[in-house]
Amino acid sequence: MLDKSLFIRALNKENLETPPIWYMRQAGRYMPEYREVRKRFNNFMDMCKNPDVCCELAMQPIKEFKLDASILFSDILTIPDAFNLGVSFVEGKGPVFSNPIKTKQDVDNLPEFDPNDLDYVYKAVKYIRATLPEDIPLIGFCGSPWTLAAYSIEGSSSKSFSFTKNYIVENEKAANIFLKKLTNACFLYLKEQVIAGANAIQIFDSWANLLSEKEYKKWSLQYIDELIELLKNDQVTSNIPVILFAREPKCSSSNLIETSADCISLFWTMRTPNLDLMKNKVAIQGNLNPAILLESNEVIKEETYKILDMYKDYPGYIFNLGHGITPNISPDKVKFLTQLVREY
Ligand code: CP3
Repeated sequence: MLDKSLFIRALNKENLETPPIWYMRQAGRYMPEYREVRKRFNNFMDMCKNPDVCCELAMQPIKEFKLDASILFSDILTIPDAFNLGVSFVEGKGPVFSNPIKTKQDVDNLPEFDPNDLDYVYKAVKYIRATLPEDIPLIGFCGSPWTLAAYSIEGSSSKSFSFTKNYIVENEKAANIFLKKLTNACFLYLKEQVIAGANAIQIFDSWANLLSEKEYKKWSLQYIDELIELLKNDQVTSNIPVILFAREPKCSSSNLIETSADCISLFWTMRTPNLDLMKNKVAIQGNLNPAILLESNEVIKEETYKILDMYKDYPGYIFNLGHGITPNISPDKVKFLTQLVREY
């Protein structure tokens, strides 16, 4: 049943009449139903640790927009939390770590990652899979090792991540050991998500933009590559399609396809990828600028059609935004956009 879903067929690089549609951050503060549930929790992480609530939240956009794929409701920072770095979310500030990585000894002193510490996530996967219509695939996810390291070292979000950039230069060996630990943790975590029922995987490299092309290969792409290799060489996960999203990487999309990712999710500034190079090698997902959803319906239509025209003959295309839906976007615009793509 799932093999015939538009989403899985697109990931298998089939050319389809209508592209499947889902949105990064499709469950979130832009939806009034989400805000209603969110009120019951002080700390966002407490909400992520409640599998029943995660299931309810993942279902909200599926019910509202009839999307072609569902994504696990959780956060990428569950892994640093399981390493005892003390993750919480502070209103207006984003994630804050009470116990960040500040010295090279901090890496040596990390506890061994125990995938069972994240049982609450696998439970959520199980509940969502059991609640979804049979033909709607469920996407499991994790942050890239680099993105998780950047948050864990910086201790919070930041414009420049200057502490992190300094740390990796000053403590190159420890930084590599940390990235390796994160890579193994991501693998074990994703494997458990697949066992619990995830049908595809997305890796979010949300801080790809911090690194130059050369640094990017060294500090991020290398570990993403290692992670995907681990997945592709494990019996449990080898057939699960992997989508790679990198936020405004300084390298080109042709560098991203050198990994074994099955699909590249393009950031919205990546306007003219070399499609001949990517064709039959990877599926493509993306990449409308989310800010377009703040414009008039005419502008939304014009910009969406530009993208749909570009990919109409591409084998394996998934419609999505070039980054997540932001809280200021109206659900009516999301509805309009979804309709537009389906009627194209
Ligand atoms: O439908 C979905 O996609 C929901 C599941 C999901 C969330 N976060 C829920 C969330 C997913 C896939 C993520 C991934 C995630 N988390 C990323 C990668 C995607 C990207 O945007 O690049 C990143 C970088 C994070 C880390 C994170 N989580 C930050 C920086 C923040 C704070 C953002 C802010 O604006 O305050 C979060 C919190 C978060 N994760 C929210 C949701 C719905 C909002 C929390 C709230 O309601 O207070």
